[in-house]
Amino acid sequence: MERLQKVIAAKGYCSRRKAEELITQGRVKVNNVVVKTLGIKFDKYDQIQIDNKILTDENSSKVYLMLNKPRNCVSTMRDPQHRKTVLSYIKGVPQRIYPVGRLDYDTSGLLLLTNDGEFTNIITHPSHIINKTYHVLVSGYLTKQKLQQLASGIEIEPGIITSQSQAKLVKYEEIKDASILLLTIHEGRKHQVKKMIKAIGHEVIKLKRVAIGFLQLNEALKPGEWRYLKFKDIKRFLK
Ligand code: URA
Repeated sequence: MERLQKVIAAKGYCSRRKAEELITQGRVKVNNVVVKTLGIKFDKYDQIQIDNKILTDENSSKVYLMLNKPRNCVSTMRDPQHRKTVLSYIKGVPQRIYPVGRLDYDTSGLLLLTNDGEFTNIITHPSHIINKTYHVLVSGYLTKQKLQQLASGIEIEPGIITSQSQAKLVKYEEIKDASILLLTIHEGRKHQVKKMIKAIGHEVIKLKRVAIGFLQLNEALKPGEWRYLKFKDIKRFLK
C-alpha cells in the first residue's frame, strides 16, 4: 500500500507534487469515488481515474531525456496564453513525459523530461542538493565583492536568504559593459538567478542553464534538440 500521489507518480502520469495538486483539486477518483485527502494509502491494483480517465500501465515504461530548451517557449505542459511549449520539440516519444522543474520563458539550456516521479523528486527537491549551473550575461561589471555576496547568500525577498553558491566571473565584455558569470546553485526558487542578480544591483541580460549535477549540456545538442539520457547517467542520479 502506498500513498495515492506516489501510486500516480509511479504509473508515470506526473510528478508526486503535481499528483498532490490533482488530488486536492478533486480531479482524482479511486474505484469511482473522489479522493481529495492527501495521505490515504492505496494499492496499485485499485482503479484510479484522473479527470474521469482511467490510468493504465500502458506506455508507463520509464523514459528520461534532455532537451536544449530554446528561449521563447514555456516549460509547462500547457500555456493559458497559447505560447510554444517545450513538449512541441519532443517528437516520437509515446510516454506522457513532463519537464523536471522549470526554466523561464526567456531562459535557454538544459532541461530534463521524464515520466518518473521519483527521479523528478530527486532532481528538484532541495534536500537532495543537486547543483544547477547557469551561464549568465549580467549588466555591468561584477566586482569581487558582488561575487562574494552572491556566493555567501543574499536576501532575494524579505526574509528569504539564498544558501551558499559558487559565483565565478568568466569575463567582462567592455564593449557591451556586461559580465559573463558562471553561477552554481542548488535551490530552485522561482526566478532565483534573476532575483539574486537584482539583489546585488545588476540585471540578467541572458540566462542559460549549462549543467544539472554532473550532467553538462553538450554543445552538440543545438537549441530545440533532445536526446535520451544514457543509462549510466540515470543510474548516477538515482543512486
Ligand atoms: N533562475 C531564473 O531566474 N530563471 C530560470 O529560468 C532559472 C533559474
